[in-house]
Amino acid sequence: MAKAKDSASTTMEALSSLCKRRGFIFQTSDIYGGINGFWDYGPLGSQLKKNIKDAWWHDVVQVNENIVGLDSAIIMPPRVWEASGHIGGFSDPMVDCKSCKKRYKADNLCEEQGQDLIQEGKTFRLPEGIICPACKSKELTEPRAFDLMFKTYVGPVEDDSAVAYLRPETAQGIFAQFNNVVSTSRQKIPFGIAQIGKAFRNEINPRNYTFRSREFEQMEIEFFIEPGTDAEWHEYWIKQRLAWYESVGLPASSLHQDIHPQEKLAHYASACTDIAYDFPFGVQELEGIAARGNFDLSRHAEYSGKSMDYVDPVTNKRFVPHVVEPSAGVDRIALAILCNAYKEQWVAKEGNAVLPAEPGKQVPEGYEARTVMQFAPRIAPIKAAVFPLLKNKPPLVDMARNIFNSLQQYWPCFYDQTGAIGRRYRRQDEIGTPFCITVDFDSLEDNTVTLRERDSMQQERVPIDEIEARMRAAIA
Ligand code: GAP
Repeated sequence: MAKAKDSASTTMEALSSLCKRRGFIFQTSDIYGGINGFWDYGPLGSQLKKNIKDAWWHDVVQVNENIVGLDSAIIMPPRVWEASGHIGGFSDPMVDCKSCKKRYKADNLCEEQGQDLIQEGKTFRLPEGIICPACKSKELTEPRAFDLMFKTYVGPVEDDSAVAYLRPETAQGIFAQFNNVVSTSRQKIPFGIAQIGKAFRNEINPRNYTFRSREFEQMEIEFFIEPGTDAEWHEYWIKQRLAWYESVGLPASSLHQDIHPQEKLAHYASACTDIAYDFPFGVQELEGIAARGNFDLSRHAEYSGKSMDYVDPVTNKRFVPHVVEPSAGVDRIALAILCNAYKEQWVAKEGNAVLPAEPGKQVPEGYEARTVMQFAPRIAPIKAAVFPLLKNKPPLVDMARNIFNSLQQYWPCFYDQTGAIGRRYRRQDEIGTPFCITVDFDSLEDNTVTLRERDSMQQERVPIDEIEARMRAAIA
């Protein structure tokens, strides 16, 4: 599964350098040196993430009559986490190198060395031959459970009664509000509750840029169903979610289904399939789709003492609903979209011929290099850039500003009057702007502009009053 490390790390270095240079992603509190596993999204990155979340919310909540939204608190009563099994049960086995003191997630360490971590009941053991990748020592501790929950205190007294946890998933907020949503939304099974929000895990080994972070965002659906319909709804959601990833620009060929074998499923689950993406550092999970039976609602009924029964209004049948849970990570999707969009090309100085750049080779005669982020227009942070041909000609500037002001009412746009037009195009290519609009002297005569498309680099004259419709068709 893993790819050649060198080309993967070169690609990730080039991408992370662009992300920093152009304002997609910064290490958190950069001036203080950051903290491992925490990231800040800059002007373009925050818009990119917003577009991903908006697309998900639109496609999941807005257009589905039987899915409603929720925005629950990050801190909930600790009893929630006892019911869910997170307290005492949400841990990763970790090992320490006795020599250099580095700490690793045991399963990742084994996987990287082509082996499987050995599980015996609730305990874990390292297979023979595992070494510390940093210092090559064979002296590693036995795997020990490492609690992934971030702890805090609520109120002024820091004692056991005030302990609370930052949620490690958004899902439990949904289960804890199941009764209130049923009684206020008039939903009937099958129906879903969807939520987007921050989650926190004290990961042993944050890595692969933003892929495994300690603070991240999830987009989760709990889809409540009648017992016995689990398999068909599980299949339904796998298909829906794969189609959604394509709709935000990830090609089908880069998406994979990782079906969990029955023997590795939690005792209450009947199926779990991960949707994985072909990252430069290997095929890795974007979303898990699990058929979890009625485990969560039953546990909350037990721990809260409140019934979680649902009564079918037609048949009067009473049951605890089962659930299928498509659970995705916003940051991982953003990273997949960034990886997929990033292209280094050689483009002809005359005409629109494009060649993929060959690393380490010289740009051929008559070509120049460009880096382009080929985001789906729906997801691109900036949808259009507007340029006056010359910045010192007020009629051109006024017309460009008017177009910019009117498009900005609908989409994030960018106004740029500095430098040669070719350089302005390159700057927009590098941040993935699908359209560039140039106002020139002909525009003043005939109310047309040059519309240039990012990927084909085709340019055409378009009447100003048609631009909005053209863009709307491409962005939808
Ligand atoms: N409620 C189920 C649940 O939380 P999960 O597989 O642990 O399941 C769901 O997490 C998704 O959340 C993952 O597929 C991934 O996209 C994202 N995720 C989990 N841990 C993450 C981390 N440390 N950093 C970034 N994203 C993470």
